[in-house]
Amino acid sequence: MAETNSDDKETTPDLAAHAGYLIEMAGRAPSVHNTQPWRFKVSEDAIELYADVSRQLLEDRAGREMLIGCGAALYGLRLGIRSLGCLPEVELFPEPAGPRLARVRAGRPAPMTSQERRLLRAVPHRHTHRGPFEPRPLPAGLVARLRRDATAEGATLRVIETEAEYRRLTAILAAWSRGQDLYPASRAGVHSRAETQRWTREADSEARDGVPAHAFPAGGGRETGRLPQRDFDLGRGWGLLPSGGPPAPVTAVLVTAGEHLDCCISQASAKYIKQAVGPCHQGLMARLWGAGRPLSPRAAPPSL
Ligand SMILES: Cc1cc2nc3c(=O)[nH]c(=O)nc-3n(C[C@H](O)[C@H](O)[C@H](O)COP(=O)(O)O)c2cc1C
Repeated sequence: MAETNSDDKETTPDLAAHAGYLIEMAGRAPSVHNTQPWRFKVSEDAIELYADVSRQLLEDRAGREMLIGCGAALYGLRLGIRSLGCLPEVELFPEPAGPRLARVRAGRPAPMTSQERRLLRAVPHRHTHRGPFEPRPLPAGLVARLRRDATAEGATLRVIETEAEYRRLTAILAAWSRGQDLYPASRAGVHSRAETQRWTREADSEARDGVPAHAFPAGGGRETGRLPQRDFDLGRGWGLLPSGGPPAPVTAVLVTAGEHLDCCISQASAKYIKQAVGPCHQGLMARLWGAGRPLSPRAAPPSL
């Protein structure tokens, strides 16, 4: 399905005709609790991305995590359009106060690069890793490539290199998880637990959203000497993933200079996770979600 542009005789794929494929690519993105908080509108020459606020978590009051998931979906859409042989033209937040997060059109033809082909092949294999890590080091040059990718997407990859940095990161994460542990009866604690229950799935579930039992370990994910993980099991014994094993070979945090750049962070992280697919890279992958920052009202979700 292609359109001919009478001005420059270049062929542009008809996005509407490929919408099913493109939305499926986008929908493979990671999202908090696998809420898949995105919606798409297909028009003649563009695919538009919106946040589905009905899937926003209560504990994500500012909608920041929802927005990060939407940005990751946007990266999948971009990659899908690249696989049609043209460059995606992305308008982020086309109307500053409007509900649209992005409008994406097919731009000029350009063949995929070998790196993009690798990313595309990785899409069906990408997943969040919460189990043990392999003891092997990462392949030479991977971290440097990931750093460059982060910069290209407007984000920064901070590799945690010293003991002091690692301790600081552990303290930041522990402060969040201790809050949940120490004040389980607080409003935030109750919401968090209820939402984790709502968005986790038993082994025989056929749900296509939420976090499935095979993707989290039984027990709280609070092992000594490791960064604390979110407890998806909540003492129910549902989790099927093994735990333990050696610590992650590399811990890295993806950051932006401001919260309004979260779309960058998520597009960069989606790209990373595709690039880092492979069992020996899991140490890096699993940590990309690790660092939370306080929510800010500036990042309030758009209302549809
Ligand atoms: C903004 C955001 C926050 C996330 N936070 C966590 C988290 O705190 N703990 C965790 O284990 N996974 C976290 N994840 C990973 C999601 O749970 C995961 O993407 C989702 O369950 C879909 O699974 P998949 O990535 O394997 O496709 C987060 C993902 C996103 C996009």
